[in-house]
Amino acid sequence: MERGHWGSRIGFVLAAAGSAVGLGNIWKFPYMAAENGGAAFLVVYIAIVFTLGVSVMLAEFVIGRAGERNPVGAFARLKGGAWPIVGYMGILAAFIILSFYSVVAGWTIAYVFKSASGLLATSDPAVLGGIFGDFSGDPVEPVIFHLLFMALTAGVVAAGVHAGIERSCEILLPLLFIILVILAIRAITLPGAAEGLRFYLQPDFSKITAETFNGALAQAFFSLSIGMGIMITYGSYLSPQINLPRSAAWVTFCDLIVALLAGLVVLPAVFAFSFDPQAGPGLVFITLPAVFAQMPFGVVFAVLFFVLLVIAALTSSVSLLEVLVAYAGDQWGWPRKSATVILSVIVFLLGIPSSLSLGIWSGYKIFGKGIFDFLDYLSSNLMLPLGGIAISLFVGWVIMPKAMSEATSDGGVAFRLAGVWLVICRYVAPIAIAWILLSGL
Ligand code: TRP
Repeated sequence: MERGHWGSRIGFVLAAAGSAVGLGNIWKFPYMAAENGGAAFLVVYIAIVFTLGVSVMLAEFVIGRAGERNPVGAFARLKGGAWPIVGYMGILAAFIILSFYSVVAGWTIAYVFKSASGLLATSDPAVLGGIFGDFSGDPVEPVIFHLLFMALTAGVVAAGVHAGIERSCEILLPLLFIILVILAIRAITLPGAAEGLRFYLQPDFSKITAETFNGALAQAFFSLSIGMGIMITYGSYLSPQINLPRSAAWVTFCDLIVALLAGLVVLPAVFAFSFDPQAGPGLVFITLPAVFAQMPFGVVFAVLFFVLLVIAALTSSVSLLEVLVAYAGDQWGWPRKSATVILSVIVFLLGIPSSLSLGIWSGYKIFGKGIFDFLDYLSSNLMLPLGGIAISLFVGWVIMPKAMSEATSDGGVAFRLAGVWLVICRYVAPIAIAWILLSGL
């Protein structure tokens, strides 16, 4: 199979940022911040993103461009031995994450319709909680939206790296940003928003615990799409002269900005209407519609918000599917279109138990968690950090002189923080991630 290529550096950065910016930023980040002390979480999160996050992302770009393959193939080509196991773990993580991610993404499509129809135009969270619970627990409806979302994802991936993924991100990501800024302006100008802003921006360091670190690390890896080989795959479509450190910095920056803005949309609005910010996963599906219902032109803002979520989810899910398609193409020679269809069907089937676990299968527990929560925890809190450790060690110790010349395009691009990156890959990232991982168990 002919391997794809990005059309331009901007196109690549937007595609990688599209992967990073997703439900993790807009759905997960605000409630993680709310549950973990608001601004205190923010401080820890930003510190992790700018040290470990950006370094592991650069390490993935390096492995991808040097190996010119999917995660398994790249490790095999660069070193072989047991290292491709890291790639296989990434492939497995892509199946798991995409399967439950698409379920939530399906909800966001459904909520575009529900909010447009006026069904959600009530300010009573109990009613909205009932609507959300009935919907997400229904055995049929969310599964149909999950199917619809997988079909959209497959449509983009089937069109290819340049014509599908890059093009769609070039359009959708700027659109996402505009919608987000509109919503943020609306939220912070609400009467009563000040308390939310204080909660979000004024750190109370006594709230920081080991759990804050564990949560922030898992969130950072999930949000940046690192630790499983997406950025290896995206890096494999790059030409040699592209500035990798700068690209990694840009992607990280975009991802952080969107998360911060999403917090700025959700938290002040929630406080302004005196709702409980710690409502967890239901925050955007239950509390926010109630908030919108109390605003002038609330229906418009609600529809905009759920469209925003669909866009964010789509540019991320294509990256997860792309890892699988790249693997099937590189390793087995499957043509892109058939690989896309077959793998999407498998992911769709895998997602069904996650969806049902929120309704008729809620009685099935794995280690005390429902199927959905278990898969989320397994992938974000265990597999991604483990992958991050392996990727850092691989770049820091195993392919080092070569990795540095790849990162600097053979000395062609300036990389002032090269020494810092080396120390982070060799020591800081493996030790810090292992420590946070163990303290969370
Ligand atoms: N980063 C995306 C988000 O925040 C989700 C995502 C896409 C992801 N690809 C990933 C998470 C790879 C982990 C690994 O929603």
